[in-house]
Amino acid sequence: DTVIDDKTKRVSVKTLVESPGLTSIPSNYSYASHPNASAASEPDDTIPIIDFSLLTSGDPHQRSKTIQDLDRACQEWGFFMLVNHGVSERLMKEVLEGCNEFFNLPMEEKMQFAGRDIWQPIRFGTGVDVKIEKFFFWRDFLKVIVHPQFHFPTNPKGFSEVAREYCKSTREVTTELLKGISKGLGLEESYIDKATDFDTGFQLFAVNLYPPCPQPELAIGIPAHTDHSLLTLLIENEIGGLQIQHNGKWFNVNPLPNSFLVNTGDHLEILSNGKYKSVSHRAVVNNKATRISIAVPHGPALDTAVGPAPELVDNENGRPAIYVPMKFKDYLERLLEGRPCNLDHVRAPV
Ligand code: SIN
Ligand code: FE2
Repeated sequence: DTVIDDKTKRVSVKTLVESPGLTSIPSNYSYASHPNASAASEPDDTIPIIDFSLLTSGDPHQRSKTIQDLDRACQEWGFFMLVNHGVSERLMKEVLEGCNEFFNLPMEEKMQFAGRDIWQPIRFGTGVDVKIEKFFFWRDFLKVIVHPQFHFPTNPKGFSEVAREYCKSTREVTTELLKGISKGLGLEESYIDKATDFDTGFQLFAVNLYPPCPQPELAIGIPAHTDHSLLTLLIENEIGGLQIQHNGKWFNVNPLPNSFLVNTGDHLEILSNGKYKSVSHRAVVNNKATRISIAVPHGPALDTAVGPAPELVDNENGRPAIYVPMKFKDYLERLLEGRPCNLDHVRAPV
């Protein structure tokens, strides 16, 4: 049996695409009538690029310039491409290949991970709007909790080892970025690390599979959303499909080879007291090739409640705290409640 979601009786998008003679999408996948639907527009601006090696080289001048660039990227875009990050091309290729092999496993092997509970350490599923059950997304996924404890499927063989190394690398890169971002916010270098108990921080390995879609303009891979994390690092198999919102327009992101696509999440918005907005993004689909993306959101520790940094709050001068602290664990559980914006759950009363 290939039903992976009991509530909606759905099969995976991959199964759907492999069924003979599919020339149009089932009506549940038609996003054109979804309340959040809106078209992309042509980019007329350049997406920021951050050179990681300049942040960590030890040259104080280069470092402070890069910190300024980071600050600007977080403030103006909430998004940047990270180059010269030191994570090997081989590792990035292998982890993408492992994901591809995972989705190619027999359905019954993947089905042992089916489920909707967000605390299930390994979860395989297919996209559904939890708020409006009748909208389906053109995406299958694998989500694994990889920190503070590392979990992973044992098949395909070798995937777990590669993923462990990859997740460790993105964590190290993120740790350095958070130091630079702390500085850019005018805080002590270790501020974010300490305030979020990043050592025991919650980290997910979230893989998205977007099979070719016969009517890509009607469907959506992932609708517009913000991430719950501090920072999310994303890579993809060079197909393209990520769009980010900037100045009210949608920008196509065509990543530089071997770069990380980094976006700010809700918890950086909270910690910075709204200086860095959690960037809205989405994934569109195409009719030519299967796209795989791996998003690794890095967040605070589950029992830690992050609020605005006191240094960024000034009640006398019209900068009150605009968010109230909430344990990250509770925050994640509230995501399923269905408010329009996750951050609404922690907005301070005015
Ligand atoms: C995501 O937002 O989790 C994924 C976006 C993408 O596939 O590019
Ligand atoms: Fe996302």
